[in-house]
Amino acid sequence: MKRLMLRTASSLAIALCIFSKEKTNAQPAQTDAAIYQKIDAKIKQMTLEEKVGMIHGNSSFTSAGVQRLGIPELTMSDGPHGVRMEHGRGWDASTQHVFDSGTYLPTGICLASTWNPKLGYAFGAVLGSEANARGKDIILGPGINIIRSPLNGRNFEYQSEDPYLVAKMVVGYIKGVQDQGVAACVKHYLANNQETKRSSINVLMSDRALREIYLPGFKAAVQEGGVYTAMGAYNKFRGQWCTENDYLVNKILKGEFGFKGLLMSDWSAVHNTLEAIWSGTDLEMGTDLDKKAYDKFYLADTVITLVKNGVVDEKLIDEKVRRILYVMYKTHMFDKRPAGSFSTKEHFATAKKVAEEGIVLLKNNSNTLPLNKNTIKSIALIGANAATLQSLGGGSSQVRTRYEITPREGLTRMGAGKFNVSYSAGYKVEKDAKANKDLIKEAVDAAKNADVAIIVGGWVHGYDFSKWSDNAYDAEGADKPDMEMPFGQNELIDAVIKANPKTILVLMGGGAIDMTRWVNDVPAILQAWYPGSEGGNALAEILFGEVNPSGKLPVTFPKQLSESPAHAIGEYPGDGVTVHYLDDIFVGYRYFDTYKVAPQFPFGHGLSYTSFGYSNMNVVAGNQSATVTLTVTNKGKLAGAEVVQVYVKDDVSTLRRPEKELKGFEKVFLKAGESRMVTIVLGKDAFQYYNDIKGQWVVEPGSFTIMAGSSSRDIRASKEITLK
Ligand code: BGC
Repeated sequence: MKRLMLRTASSLAIALCIFSKEKTNAQPAQTDAAIYQKIDAKIKQMTLEEKVGMIHGNSSFTSAGVQRLGIPELTMSDGPHGVRMEHGRGWDASTQHVFDSGTYLPTGICLASTWNPKLGYAFGAVLGSEANARGKDIILGPGINIIRSPLNGRNFEYQSEDPYLVAKMVVGYIKGVQDQGVAACVKHYLANNQETKRSSINVLMSDRALREIYLPGFKAAVQEGGVYTAMGAYNKFRGQWCTENDYLVNKILKGEFGFKGLLMSDWSAVHNTLEAIWSGTDLEMGTDLDKKAYDKFYLADTVITLVKNGVVDEKLIDEKVRRILYVMYKTHMFDKRPAGSFSTKEHFATAKKVAEEGIVLLKNNSNTLPLNKNTIKSIALIGANAATLQSLGGGSSQVRTRYEITPREGLTRMGAGKFNVSYSAGYKVEKDAKANKDLIKEAVDAAKNADVAIIVGGWVHGYDFSKWSDNAYDAEGADKPDMEMPFGQNELIDAVIKANPKTILVLMGGGAIDMTRWVNDVPAILQAWYPGSEGGNALAEILFGEVNPSGKLPVTFPKQLSESPAHAIGEYPGDGVTVHYLDDIFVGYRYFDTYKVAPQFPFGHGLSYTSFGYSNMNVVAGNQSATVTLTVTNKGKLAGAEVVQVYVKDDVSTLRRPEKELKGFEKVFLKAGESRMVTIVLGKDAFQYYNDIKGQWVVEPGSFTIMAGSSSRDIRASKEITLK
């Protein structure tokens, strides 16, 4: 117990020191009025050709500056969980370069599983600092598309099925990045919720789904996070390409939300010069090996011709340049940007902290976990994922890292001088690989002779572009065909569990897999996502109770794919041309709870090695608001953290509303036996919904049920209130 408390305290100290260090890095801000004065003076001196040079890429990850006016090139890099290895201009991605090997942070879905916005900030600060040290002005993250189906190949990069959780996590991330003097880029705006036909599919959804589910993360990114850049998605929305979408970009993002920064296209996502000019695209990006080809981009030479011929007013181009220069000023490209740092001990410590708090204990029958170092003599570690490096996979989010601790390394270190860790692969990570009898036999023999068997399985990150079409991988550019375990792992689990009932399963991957075949037989299951550079260490410490797990699922794990809303009542992936979001606002638990479908593991679920009691819940209703107070008590013998989740149900409403919606949460760290009062204030947002008949947000007076719980399906206390 002492050890656990120490760990919690020391990790917190590291985290706090990371947070405070970042703050001191911020430069004194200039007012926007002062910035715009300087911008307008610069624009006045620019030729049309110079302006147009700034609104399209001139290499894979840069756009031109204007040297004679002291305007530098704008430089950017992927991606959401680490600064990508260098690409473009003279770089050969296959060559090992020491200085582009950075910190590999746990991927987006693992960050969201921490339910800890402060870690969002710490995560962003690492990225910002490393991007800065590598000479980047923009880091192409966070990716916050709503997780609509378990099949999306990019779910690992994204955060959640719930707009409130996304909105809370994204703000810290963006501030963390931008306090380092570089810009974040929130992507992909909007409705890039599948990779299948991502560059042509037309997404149709109601205004209500748009407002309630798909927009809130972007709104928070702009209005609370102050994000400087955004990336338009590849797909179409209501018939118009997202990057050149008047409704989404001009009306909502720049109009309603008041976004002042630049909207860049996704790579080669512009389709029409005039649409892009009129509908708000500020910067066209894309990759082309031929340098001259950049002049043929939609927002390149053609624009010069159109302006010269009087078809396009030059003021429209000025507006784009104005936004680009605004980002340049905000990111200190004309004054001194604070120094960044790279691959530091602190950065890896943040990666570890996120993994420690993001790994989710899904199941733990009869206290199978934590394991005890003093009694265990041997572990049979099984599974190719235990020894597979994941950082280089996934597509554009790939990271070349200085180091990545695999589960095998983490456990072997933990066991040094204390217990023996044998290793057998159990399956082969290979396209279309089926159960391998020899590998299974080897694993079974090892499991029989060990005190405990630990299988590390699940999905793997797609490694190189040629494998993108292989659906056994989590990667950009392809969705999975189903939710099944790949590589014959079901057979492996069946056999190992028979050989040793004390089998622990650790799953890697970007989301839910079908567990129905063995979920009742395996006594302990952990969801480890892609846990980053320090993942193997964090995992070993959780398995042995040196860290008490506190991650909670940011998505519902359905039992079977057919029970997931996009597949049960929606369309996925559409007919190849169009996809109708018939699941509407019933995404994730909003569907499971309203339609009374039992999930495998519910949204917000995650166990601890201690237990928490909820008491004294009180709700005081105000004017379209309420204040919730309750006491949380750590009832066990170990320090730990609980995420108190507050859900709201509108008891009577004109339009149908979900059974419950997350409207507040707080992660509370408690010593053994400690109690704390938690206060969660619910504002108007917690009660309103978007009435798309009226075309506006409404709060309807009447009765609401306020629920507090440890997950969406583990409500511990509730109270009814009446709003006038
Ligand atoms: C991805 C973006 C990424 C861009 C640049 C695109 O394929 O969709 O997320 O930022 O490439 O690498």
